[in-house]
Amino acid sequence: MDKSTPQAIHLKDYAPPPYLIDTVDLAFDLGEDVTRVRSRLAIRANPDAASPAGALVLDGQDMRLVSVALDGRTLDPSEYSVGPESLTIPGPPEAFSLEVVTELKPQENTSLSGLYRTSGNFCTQCEAEGFRKITYFLDRPDVMARYRTTITADALKYPVMLSNGNLVASSKMEGDGRHTVTWEDPFAKPSYLFALVAGVLVHVEDSYVTRSGRTVTLRIYVEPGNQDKCGHAMASLKKSMAWDEEVFGLEYDLDIFMIVAVGDFNMGAMENKGLNVFNTKYVLAKPETATDTDFLGVEAVVAHEYFHNWTGNRVTCRDWFQLSLKEGLTVFRDQEFSSDMHSRPVKRIADVQRLRAAQFPEDSGPMAHPVRPDSYIEINNFYTTTVYEKGAEVVRMIHTLLGADGFRKGMDLYFERHDGQAVTCDDFVAAMEDAAGKDLGQFRRWYSQAGTPELAVTGEYDAAARTYRLTVRQSCPPTPGQPTKLPFHIPLALGLLDPSGADIPLRLAGEPGPAGTSRVLDVTGPEQVFEFVDVPRQPVPSLLRGFSAPVKLRAPYTDDDLTFLMAHDGDAFNRWEAGQTLATRLLLDLVADRAENRPLELSPGFIDAFSRILKDPDLDPAFAAQALTLPSEGYLGQQMPVIDVDGIHEVRTFARRAIAGRLRDDLLATYRAMGGNEPFSIDAAAIGRRALKNLALGYLMALEDAEAVELCVGQFHNAQAMTDVIAALGLLADTRLPQRESALRRFYDLWKDEPLVVDKWFSIQAMSERPETLDEVAALLAHPAFEIRNPNKVYALIGGFAGGNPVRFHDAGGGGYRFLADQVLALNRLNPQVASRMVKMFARWRKYDPRRQSLMRAELERIVATPGLSRDVFEIASKSLE
Ligand code: ARG
Ligand code: ZN
Repeated sequence: MDKSTPQAIHLKDYAPPPYLIDTVDLAFDLGEDVTRVRSRLAIRANPDAASPAGALVLDGQDMRLVSVALDGRTLDPSEYSVGPESLTIPGPPEAFSLEVVTELKPQENTSLSGLYRTSGNFCTQCEAEGFRKITYFLDRPDVMARYRTTITADALKYPVMLSNGNLVASSKMEGDGRHTVTWEDPFAKPSYLFALVAGVLVHVEDSYVTRSGRTVTLRIYVEPGNQDKCGHAMASLKKSMAWDEEVFGLEYDLDIFMIVAVGDFNMGAMENKGLNVFNTKYVLAKPETATDTDFLGVEAVVAHEYFHNWTGNRVTCRDWFQLSLKEGLTVFRDQEFSSDMHSRPVKRIADVQRLRAAQFPEDSGPMAHPVRPDSYIEINNFYTTTVYEKGAEVVRMIHTLLGADGFRKGMDLYFERHDGQAVTCDDFVAAMEDAAGKDLGQFRRWYSQAGTPELAVTGEYDAAARTYRLTVRQSCPPTPGQPTKLPFHIPLALGLLDPSGADIPLRLAGEPGPAGTSRVLDVTGPEQVFEFVDVPRQPVPSLLRGFSAPVKLRAPYTDDDLTFLMAHDGDAFNRWEAGQTLATRLLLDLVADRAENRPLELSPGFIDAFSRILKDPDLDPAFAAQALTLPSEGYLGQQMPVIDVDGIHEVRTFARRAIAGRLRDDLLATYRAMGGNEPFSIDAAAIGRRALKNLALGYLMALEDAEAVELCVGQFHNAQAMTDVIAALGLLADTRLPQRESALRRFYDLWKDEPLVVDKWFSIQAMSERPETLDEVAALLAHPAFEIRNPNKVYALIGGFAGGNPVRFHDAGGGGYRFLADQVLALNRLNPQVASRMVKMFARWRKYDPRRQSLMRAELERIVATPGLSRDVFEIASKSLE
């Protein structure tokens, strides 16, 4: 590559900052054409720096530098130098004040990083490195400063002007129609937590009294007309505040907490101190416009961002390699919160499905990286499912190993030691280990080694000795840069079931007596034997209960063992897991049958097991819906050495029809029983009933008989809740029925003024299995409601197609690949972060047959050869080709 090839940054090169910044005083003058930013910094040499301070090099890009003054004296341009991404002042004093004036054009900023415009308003996104597009700064998380922010703008166009902390002054200027506000944040913070919002916004307000008796004002700001969709977010916020006090003893620390919802946002949301900025998708919800999944998403993301106030803001990351310090921990916390608000097993199953659908593939592909990566080209590429979701699994394993009390002690010690500091993942583990007195030395490998470990477990029963010997072997496949791995410390939760299905009391050889019926074994070696004694009969082991570690389990279960576990396992997660394992096995056998031109037949025993779940009146409907869902096409593909896209799709469709055909009456009965005309409620029970009802409708529509079609069309037209409307529309969209077009048209006409609902309309069409989908998606790019500058629209239409429609995206003709590459290149110029999320869809090209491989590789090569490639896209595309 030529000299412009982007360079990697390495964790091993970390050095403390040569200078520190104690206070930041910002003055924004927001204009239609130019926005002027005056920044006053109190800077001093860092006493803990490795070497003498030397030149001051500030980060900065995409701005016009107007002036620089040091201790009140304006510098001559010969006294500093400006590069494309920096401002250098050679040899400044030990301590000094620096005043820098820059000019920006937020209206031209399509990257949605830094200061940008959305629906006529101003808004910022500074994580990870957006602050450097606002002013010159030491834009790294280990530089923590106290901020004071003054904003001046036209009072009519920007009546609301917000920043972090507390409002300390506001004034209307005489004559010119402008006004000014000043915000002050008493807590030192890194620049990535800075935020500014200005525009026409309305808010809903509530308050919360903390357990120490302080009253906190809560506000959610939205565009006018959306006030009626804030209730769920507000309720979720108050629940989050109470939960964090109760479970972790953590209180909110400012007098006001604000959330602003914006329509143009790259990610889900951002935890800026006291001023969270959210994608509207994770704030706005009412039953008519939002599905149950949306409601749960709002609750989880509101909680996630709120929890960051302690895990992320009060204690932040030393450098971006430590991102999982705040993200893994905060995802773990939001998962626990949702479990406590709803059903724990149902939430655990959903989280594991997500991990397997996204993180396992990442961990076995060209972008595999440890939870704490050791290098990156573009940090924005590392807001990954490995850092977030696998990071949360790593924290969960610590929780499992230490127990709830030990974990809480570790959290207390972590805050006691590190409040107000920028620290590392290792500091977190050290606090856990010191508080609980448990050695986590080997456990730390979860942070440094990439790849999904495999756990092979076999059991041997000795009837004469009444012993059961469990042999556990672990291994981990190579990942880029890590050809061999050392053994992990894996918590293996398990139980042993006797033939009646009851748990046997567990006693390991050498122990004085049994210690419970479910316990956690410490697996630390490459091969280990655990011998259980006093085992009266040949047991069936229930392994990895609750998915106690993010590994792939291999155990030689018979189909009968799995059916037995499905019916009897005391661990709900493993009851679900047994069904999934059995279904995966049967479906993969059918894929092989199809490839060999053998006739397809679904095992009657399996259908019977499904029938028992469907008819079990004691089962939680939400759980039943999960248990009756076949493994996804993506998950099935991961189990094959070469993914048979068409075979998997055909076989899964066949199985769904076979199940529906055999269980039609039960499905109809379930549909009717779950239907009810009760008023809408968003509690876990109501969500579960809708899930099971729509699951039944889905199976019935696999038959596409007159009765099913009538139910589906009727539900589409008459349902009040968006969950039910969308379920029906999604099913119709897969058909060639005449009602399909009229339903899609009607839906658009009804909802064309609700952008989040229009996103659903785009993604439903993008995910249709019909052969014409690619042409329709390409045509929808020109639809007046599509806007390539809006990330939600891209994720719905382009992401929905490439990520949610395997059989059409991977069409053997290669049209899907060409389409995606064209969109990546268009997005590359506008919004590199969004482009890079799209190009990741090519990353696993090596898992396909030679024809598809060469088609995908050609598109990746075309992308890499394009001049003007962003660091974001370059890193993903080039690493995918390595
Ligand atoms: N910290 C935010 C969250 O997890 C995500 C921000 C990601 N931003 C980015 N540019 N990658 O809540
Ligand atoms: Zn986060």
